[in-house]
Amino acid sequence: MAGSPCSQKRLAGCVSGFRGCPQPMAMRPPGVQDAASAARPRMAIWLKTPGKPADTASPVVARRGACHAPACAPLPRGGMLTRMTPITLRKLRKVFGSTVAVDDADITIEAGDLFFLLGPSGCGKTTLLRMLAGFTEPTAGRIFLGEHDVTDLPANRRNTGMVFQGYALWPHMTVAQNVGFGLQVRRVGGAEREKQVNAALRMVQMGQYADRRPNELSGGQQQRVALARALVVKPTVLLLDEPLSNLDAKLRLEMRGQIKHLCKQSGITAVYVTHDQKEALSMADTVAVLDHGKVMQVGTPRELYVQPRNRFVADFLGETNFIQGRIKGRDNGRVLIDCPAGRLVSSTFADDLPSDGDVTCSIRPEAIRLLGEGEPAPENVLTARRREVIYLGEMAQHLLRIGGDVPVKAFELNPRLLPEAGETRIAFEPRDVVILSD
Ligand SMILES: Nc1ncnc2c1ncn2[C@@H]1O[C@H](COP(=O)(O)OP(=O)(O)O)[C@@H](O)[C@H]1O
Ligand SMILES: [Mg+2]
Repeated sequence: MAGSPCSQKRLAGCVSGFRGCPQPMAMRPPGVQDAASAARPRMAIWLKTPGKPADTASPVVARRGACHAPACAPLPRGGMLTRMTPITLRKLRKVFGSTVAVDDADITIEAGDLFFLLGPSGCGKTTLLRMLAGFTEPTAGRIFLGEHDVTDLPANRRNTGMVFQGYALWPHMTVAQNVGFGLQVRRVGGAEREKQVNAALRMVQMGQYADRRPNELSGGQQQRVALARALVVKPTVLLLDEPLSNLDAKLRLEMRGQIKHLCKQSGITAVYVTHDQKEALSMADTVAVLDHGKVMQVGTPRELYVQPRNRFVADFLGETNFIQGRIKGRDNGRVLIDCPAGRLVSSTFADDLPSDGDVTCSIRPEAIRLLGEGEPAPENVLTARRREVIYLGEMAQHLLRIGGDVPVKAFELNPRLLPEAGETRIAFEPRDVVILSD
């Protein structure tokens, strides 16, 4: 297997010593390298393990020089791309047997963007990221890094930096050796390599841990080393696959800020995969929400939250209430909707909303106010029955029912002590009534 590395070059990401070679660097089990062979330049190759993705595959080490195919030719000195590189996906598709993992994705990612792919498990996030890195071959469609169509370029010529969910640090190497390996295979010499490794470690605040081994580090520290290793080779784009999912909740929060800061500081275009909507909302410049391989909506966190296009996006990002109704007409550019609980007025809807028909409205729980006795409200006032109050200290969640026995949840910050049972009036602004397109 080690004698045919080029057959692995696309699917498994040939990790060669050539310029332009991407992460991941293969993990070499301790003891593989003997003293004599350590002196020779080497090339590590991913071997796919049946049933496992290539990034968890068994690594082997092969001699540099075993790879002769033109596809593994080095990039010209200087590289073909800068770090502020936009990414364009055109009708990108991946089918595994009867599963459409990525369904004609059309995405444009601005240079320097921290771009999130957000969606539930199995929606195609990792597959999309792996196609970007060159580890998975698309069934159809094109991938552009800058103006360059890289669809047919093997992974080792795309110069993408990848951070994996499981870090994939070499256990037998020190932190400095882990970070420096990518430079070593690119033949960056001793003093210069040391300088760049130190700078990368300082960037992730790991300078004092250079001589430790991964098993002497906490999860968060390992994560930072993985980041430094991806960034030290100055990749064209940084790809991160659920990089915080192995960390405990507190550390995850801390690392969110650090990763965002690092990406912005380096100016790199980064694609970050997660199923955690809070991670996406708090970190992203732009988010693409995926469901069953399809891009549901692309926008800033705020755009997606306040004007979700459809039920899936409204439900996946935060909590919401769905209320069915029928369009009754327009008033001053606003849409009037009749629902079993009464008349709703909406000022948030798509330009191509039809003039009549049944619609679903999304109203966020925090947008619903419980009116006090005699408290006036101009419009969107409904009568609700209280079912339950869940007291959470800084807020209370009110579980209510409105006309037609529709359940509605309302969040009350700094809650008053209201009785659980009985009737109440609720109100919300027209801008908080979002008419969904499906
Ligand atoms: N190598 C593969 N062979 C067959 N099916 C795959 C393979 N990789 C992923 N899939 C399928 O493609 C879909 C998307 O998977 P994936 O991209 O890993 O999703 P996510 O990262 O969003 O959890 C899933 O249904 C998964 O089972
Ligand atoms: Mg995944």
